[in-house]
Parts: sequence; C-alpha cells; structure tokens
Amino acid sequence: MNQSLFQQFAALVTQNFGIQLPPEKKALLESRLFKLKNDNMGRPELASDEAFLKYIREDKTSKGLAMLAEAITTHHTFFMREADHFSFYEKEVLPYLEKSIRDGDMRTWCAASSTGEEAYTLAMMLEDHFGSMPGWETTLLATDLSKDVLEIGKNGVYSAESVKTLPALWQNSYFHRTFDGKYQVVDRLRHKVLFRRFNLMTPVFPFKRPFHVIFCRNVMIYFDNTTRDNLVRKFAEFLEPGGYLFIGHSEVIDRHKSDFDYVMPSIYRKKGAFT
Ligand SMILES: C[S@@+](CC[C@H](N)C(=O)[O-])C[C@H]1O[C@@H](n2cnc3c(N)ncnc32)[C@H](O)[C@@H]1O
Repeated sequence: MNQSLFQQFAALVTQNFGIQLPPEKKALLESRLFKLKNDNMGRPELASDEAFLKYIREDKTSKGLAMLAEAITTHHTFFMREADHFSFYEKEVLPYLEKSIRDGDMRTWCAASSTGEEAYTLAMMLEDHFGSMPGWETTLLATDLSKDVLEIGKNGVYSAESVKTLPALWQNSYFHRTFDGKYQVVDRLRHKVLFRRFNLMTPVFPFKRPFHVIFCRNVMIYFDNTTRDNLVRKFAEFLEPGGYLFIGHSEVIDRHKSDFDYVMPSIYRKKGAFT
C-alpha cells in the first residue's frame, strides 16, 4: 500500500472511530485488509485496497465502514483483567451504592466491552451482591464498535483456559459446560447483560438516565488527547454525581481539566454526591 492510500485509510479510521493509525501501523493495516480480502474472496469491493476505499466512500449504508471497523479494531481482553478494579468495585463501590441509591435502580455501563469477559465479571459481582436482595434492578449495558465481538459476548461461550482464572464457585454457579468442553454463561446471567453496538465517537449519546459506574478500559489508548478529553467530558455528563469511572491501567485522564476526582490509579469519581 502506498503512503497516500495509507493516509486516506488512516484519516477515515480516525474520523469515524477515533483510533489513531500512526505511520508505524501501516503494516498492521495492510495485514488486516489482506485478511479481510481473503475472508471475503470474490467480492469486487474488496478486490484491491483502492476498490475498498472507494466502496467505503460511496456506500450510503455504512457497511463498508463497519467492515473497516471489524478489520481495524483490537479486541484483546480476558476475565479479571486488571483485577484490582474488580475488587474495588466489589468491596467499595457496590456497598456504597447499596447504601446511597434509594430507588434500587443501579446502572453500570461497560463501554468497549469486546467479547464480554469484563461485563460478565461485573455481572457476577452484581449478582453476588444484589441477587438475593429484593427491590434491586441492576442494569448492565455492554457496548462495543464491533458487531463480531458483541455476538461472542451475547453467546457467552468461553474456553476452559480463559475461565480457569475465575473462582471455582463462579465457574460452578455462573457457567455450564458445553458438549465440546467449553464454558457457557448461564442464561439467567447472560440475560442480565445488554450487548449493543455503540461507537464512542457518536456525537450525542442516546442514554436516557446517567450511570452510576462506567468502565471504559483499554480503548482510549488508541485515541489522541483531544478525542480522549472529549470522551471523558461525555462520561462525566452521563455519570451520576459521585459516580465512578474506571479506565485502563495504562491510561490517564487530566483530572485538572475534568469533572473527576482521583480515587486511585485508573479509578476516578465524578465530583459531587448522590442526591
Ligand atoms: C482492547 S479491547 C478492550 C476490552 C476491555 N475493555 C478490556 O479492557 O479488556 C478494545 C475494544 O474497544 C473497541 N473499540 C475501539 N474503538 C471503539 C469506538 N470508537 N467505539 C466503541 N468501541 C471501540 C474495540 O472494538 C475493542 O473491542
């Protein structure tokens, strides 16, 4: 791929998904587009990189852009990733919310959820904490740009290898074995997680009520500072006062420029308190 073509793809990716593609990512883009072409043999719009670019630009349905999103996103995730976040959520956040929320309606958003391991970890904690308490409605929204990963999340089927990091009690209570030795999240938990496609670059967020907790981990590393600051501002807008924001361990937000107080590394809290 020549430099000009790479720059045109990179500009499309940044404008639409926020993801930066610096020059050293050219080989990555090439290999992802090569794979896309191989997986879709015979489709004229993918016959060459130039044809694909033209298709994306001319296609009114956004299907080309969606294919580009699938090709360019990186979905690496695993159960209990950055485990200290989950123990803070379990030991500090949930008891606090239990005391502070009066109407029993607790809302968590797992933004950039990838294949669902992060959302299901939160779902298991919510179930452990609130499952036997009458009067609690715990909504867990899991969103991602990629439809493919959301399908995996909805099915909730994981390898024995990936589930083995979870406590035995969870493995037994929240999963059942499939005929081929995998682990599937039990229906009652799967139905508690709402998987939806959502692009974090969407100018106006459509949520009716603010969340008490937002997890948005390991996606802002792909964004530039301005995109990240704008997103953090929107998170503040869509969090209840006193609500928590969890970001990835290698990510930072400028708390002097934002509405958040620092709690501990990669955990922030929106200024104010629940009313
Ligand atoms: C590396 S995974 C992180 C998964 C999980 N949050 C974790 O920390 O393990 C990054 C995810 O961000 C998603 N993503 C990238 N750009 C996005 C965007 N603009 N809007 C929503 N999701 C996006 C990707 O599809 C991918 O699944």
